[in-house]
Amino acid sequence: MRRKLVVGNWKMHGSRPANAELLAAVLGARPYRADVAVCVPFVFVNETAAMLAGSDLRWGAQDVSAHEQGAYTGEVSAAMLAECGCRYALVGHSERRAYHAESDALVALKAQAALARGVTPVVCVGETLEEREAGQTEAVVKRQLSAVIHQLAHCAAEMVVAYEPVWAIGTGRTASPEQAQAVHAVLRAQLQAATGRADTMKILYGGSVKADNAAILFAQPDIDGGLIGGASLKAAEFIAICRAAEQAAGGTP
Ligand code: PGA
Repeated sequence: MRRKLVVGNWKMHGSRPANAELLAAVLGARPYRADVAVCVPFVFVNETAAMLAGSDLRWGAQDVSAHEQGAYTGEVSAAMLAECGCRYALVGHSERRAYHAESDALVALKAQAALARGVTPVVCVGETLEEREAGQTEAVVKRQLSAVIHQLAHCAAEMVVAYEPVWAIGTGRTASPEQAQAVHAVLRAQLQAATGRADTMKILYGGSVKADNAAILFAQPDIDGGLIGGASLKAAEFIAICRAAEQAAGGTP
């Protein structure tokens, strides 16, 4: 059975005192029988690393440059993230696709840049409400994932995928477990066709995951955990989601 993974996406939230309090609480609730990580704003990566170093909690960033290095003002490279101990980088989050015009091709290059430095890309895919209502959900997520699969080629099995329907992000409107499972199954079949190793790959669900809906989502056969936005900022809520993941996995430490 695949081990569950819960990744907090702090987005542009946090402050030094608030982060310290949140991380101390998450650390204090160990051990977890699921893998747990937080993806924090770039400026907080180092202090997050300092707090979490030596624990089994992991950390990461919310974006990464497609470039190795050079005159790219404001960008942060995968090598820099690796140097700061980042295990993960979110790539292609819908907010970046929407507000920073990130194309499928750019997202694929970012995923490749991350992987080349040993940082696991968490590749986000998902349809808008308009696309879902037009019956395009499958076509959209397959197109988004296919760009990354082709770019990563023989390394494609190394990525983590996150299915995040845009209409469920930050809206309080979660995909039903059946809706989410249906898309996850499509993505896993696509990954299997491309890599032959999809049974080892993690596909997370994201979009208004909370303590009270996490267990049923994580119980779906193709949902391997969650990418958690708003609820990852509240210690009790985030810890409860991590517990739901370990119950779904049914494992022991
Ligand atoms: P949400 O965000 O949990 O606040 O809906 C999820 C995400 O955007 O990763």
